[in-house]
Amino acid sequence: MTEIPVGSGQRSLDDVCFIVPAAGRGERMGAAVSKQYLPLGGQPLLAQTLRRLLALRPRQLVLVVAADDSRWREVQGVERCTVVVGGDTRAASVLAGLGGVTETGWVMVHDAARPCVRGADILRLYDAVSHTTTGGILGVPVTDTVKAVDNNVVITSPDRSHLWLAQTPQMFPRDLLVSALQQGQAQGARLTDEASAIEALDVRPRMVAGSRDNIKVTHADDLALAEYYLRQQAVESGNSVESHLSDKTSK
Ligand code: CTP
Ligand code: MG
Repeated sequence: MTEIPVGSGQRSLDDVCFIVPAAGRGERMGAAVSKQYLPLGGQPLLAQTLRRLLALRPRQLVLVVAADDSRWREVQGVERCTVVVGGDTRAASVLAGLGGVTETGWVMVHDAARPCVRGADILRLYDAVSHTTTGGILGVPVTDTVKAVDNNVVITSPDRSHLWLAQTPQMFPRDLLVSALQQGQAQGARLTDEASAIEALDVRPRMVAGSRDNIKVTHADDLALAEYYLRQQAVESGNSVESHLSDKTSK
């Protein structure tokens, strides 16, 4: 097998640097190892994520790992990554990742914990955002009714028609993202994504419709769901499930 069938066609993202924060502890997963190392389709979850990003042939991929992580070296794909040590929060880890980026220009931050991301969606994000100065993110509209709750009491129901779930990748000019995250940290903001830091600068990023299967593996039952989605994607793309899930031969 040669290149990896992840719906990316022949295009490459040679002016984009990916940053993959993988320095979290996976506390909500409750497993003995961090969730990025749990098996998914016969490989560590992180390998599945890296494979999808590397298939797009980015200029650089910076992988951010925890200081005490002894597992990353065995993950397929890391030989093509720049590896840096992260911090206590996601924002600190992404800032550390930005420190490893060698070029100015576009960066895309993608959670290690989103192994089902589709190459086609990443390319659509790029096409929708690369001519802007604001950057943008993938997301999907909320389908459930959302409640603001305080102490188990419903306070209000925000208008769902304006609500989207933020996913990754999130794509921004490198220097804008560095300033936004530094300012967010200085102000002690609780940032759970990059766009929040950008918004705090009064910059309005684009929202680009992604796919509902780009889940963030968070709780134990998400692993089976992610495996199901990977298999479904293989069926959709007409590839054998085995070649889609594992890539032992190609680099
Ligand atoms: N992450 C990171 N550094 C941190 C915290 C999170 O690089 N200090 C990364 C995670 O590894 C993950 C992504 O950010 O790929 C999204 O975070 P999340 O889903 O919250 O992962 P964890 O923090 O590992 O999980 P939990 O919050 O359940 O502990
Ligand atoms: Mg977390």
